[in-house]
Amino acid sequence: MTMLPATAAALLVLVLQLMWSAEAQVAVGSGPPAGCPDRCGNVSVPFPFGIRDGCSLEGFGLTCNTTSNPPRLMIGNSTLQVVNISLANSTLRAVDIAGAVNITYGQIDGNGTWVGVVASPYIVNETLNQLLVTGCNIQVTLVGSGGNVISGCSSFCSINDMYTGGVFRSPGNKCAGIGCCQQQVSIGRPSYRVELTNLDKDREFSGRVPEAVRIAELGWFDGLAADLLNVSLADTSRRNPVPVVLDWAVASTGLDVTLNAGLNKQAANNWSCPTAASGRKSACISSNSFCRNIADNYRSGYVCRCDKGYDGNPYVAGGCQDINECERAKENGCFGECTNTPGAFLCRCPHGARGNATIPNGCTKSNLGN
Ligand SMILES: *[C@@H]1O[C@H](CO)[C@@H](O)[C@H](O)[C@H]1NC(C)=O
Ligand SMILES: *[C@@H]1O[C@H](CO)[C@@H](O)[C@H](O)[C@H]1NC(C)=O
Ligand SMILES: *[C@@H]1O[C@H](CO)[C@@H](O)[C@H](O)[C@H]1NC(C)=O
Ligand SMILES: *[C@@H]1O[C@H](CO)[C@@H](O)[C@H](O)[C@H]1NC(C)=O
Ligand SMILES: *[C@@H]1O[C@H](CO)[C@@H](O)[C@H](O)[C@H]1NC(C)=O
Ligand SMILES: *[C@@H]1O[C@H](CO)[C@@H](O)[C@H](O)[C@H]1NC(C)=O
Ligand SMILES: *[C@@H]1O[C@H](CO)[C@@H](O)[C@H](O)[C@H]1NC(C)=O
Ligand SMILES: *[C@@H]1O[C@H](CO)[C@@H](O)[C@H](O)[C@H]1NC(C)=O
Ligand SMILES: *[C@@H]1O[C@H](CO)[C@@H](O)[C@H](O)[C@H]1NC(C)=O
Ligand SMILES: *[C@@H]1O[C@H](CO)[C@@H](O)[C@H](O)[C@H]1NC(C)=O
Ligand SMILES: *[C@@H]1O[C@H](CO)[C@@H](O)[C@H](O)[C@H]1NC(C)=O
Repeated sequence: MTMLPATAAALLVLVLQLMWSAEAQVAVGSGPPAGCPDRCGNVSVPFPFGIRDGCSLEGFGLTCNTTSNPPRLMIGNSTLQVVNISLANSTLRAVDIAGAVNITYGQIDGNGTWVGVVASPYIVNETLNQLLVTGCNIQVTLVGSGGNVISGCSSFCSINDMYTGGVFRSPGNKCAGIGCCQQQVSIGRPSYRVELTNLDKDREFSGRVPEAVRIAELGWFDGLAADLLNVSLADTSRRNPVPVVLDWAVASTGLDVTLNAGLNKQAANNWSCPTAASGRKSACISSNSFCRNIADNYRSGYVCRCDKGYDGNPYVAGGCQDINECERAKENGCFGECTNTPGAFLCRCPHGARGNATIPNGCTKSNLGN
């Protein structure tokens, strides 16, 4: 009898969830319904992502703009265009089609926002991107939502004492410390406030190098530096699409939310991989898949992976498929007779030979043969 109210409450919650999720996204624990488009132009859109209502997990809805040719896959109405999604790495490659951060200047200093990603399974990958600043004698900081300084760098042009000139270009077509600076992002977030401070209060030499702030994939600047530092190309280079690599996670929960609740990183893990005890469903619904907790400097969440020996999509039923290692037997270290098994393979010397089949020429014909 005491079970009844609890059951009724659970049912109500379920009904509410169904009503709500039917509107925009798939409930965690079910795969995508049939008939969901799986690509936009030539970019494939694997579940948990989706480009139609009711085709994605919460937060993973993308927009396919088919009016442009070729079609553009966008993150919401942000300026980030998706060019590749990796389930195995839980990353998403995008280009910011807006180009450099739009800075609004006051007297001499300025502010802006790195557009970032409004809805948030996404954060900037800390190791694959960097803050990249061009300009003369400026300091730029990335700031979090609490006004906390996250990272920054200063870019200098060496002005000679006679004020007759200076060095405005970085040699080698890369950022070599003159007219530009680059720095680790340090804390991957969905967005950043950008603060620009002019270190040359007369701004005498501003305008000799384009003043621009970007968050860009590591290595992008190399080879483009000559153009990005060329002030006569500033108007167009400012709008050059900038590549950036984002990480994504299911059930992504910002640590600041939990910190405000007086909890710590460990408590934030509460929102991560569902356990039997938690009663929550996991998005890792494929057989031969597992759930991995994610806890980084900004948020916690989880991702799904296929078991060793399997690959495919762990977020859909039957998505993780056996890898036939024998198709590439030698690369997998088998130089004898290879037999594929679910999740693994057997490697033996052929009939009539003996030895060690896992080393090249490890099998020798046995004497009994001839
Ligand atoms: C996708 O389409 C774009 C534009 O047509 C093209 O530049 C790109 O190479 C294509 N990518 C692949 C993987 O086919
Ligand atoms: C995405 O990346 C994978 C792995 O690098 C590659 O095989 C695939 O062709 C890429 N897809 C597109 C649309 O570029
Ligand atoms: C779709 O792309 C076209 C052409 O690039 C653009 O004019 C339009 O604003 C885009 N639509 C949306 C909803 O972003
Ligand atoms: C889309 O743009 C509108 C108006 O610019 C904004 O209010 C809304 O939050 C945006 N939505 C998303 C998902 O970015
Ligand atoms: C996944 O990560 C590995 C290692 O960083 C990288 O070599 C590979 O290209 C990545 N795949 C995709 C599709 O991004
Ligand atoms: C830059 O920001 C200002 C102020 O917010 C706005 O008026 C302007 O249209 C923006 N420019 C671009 C290119 O987005
Ligand atoms: C930059 O933003 C800060 C905080 O919002 C504000 O106090 C400051 O006046 C802004 N500076 C400029 C130059 O807009
Ligand atoms: C960023 O990408 C690297 C390489 O793929 C990966 O090892 C790392 O976990 C990702 N996330 C962060 C927050 O660095
Ligand atoms: C800057 O760009 C202009 C226009 O393309 C070009 O004529 C000039 O040589 C460039 N300057 C340098 C230093 O590369
Ligand atoms: C985890 O969540 C459960 C249910 O919401 C709650 O009772 C528990 O106190 C949480 N644990 C931590 C460490 O926050
Ligand atoms: C076969 O050779 C590998 C590599 O040298 C070694 O690790 C393994 O133990 C050997 N197996 C047997 C059965 O000797």
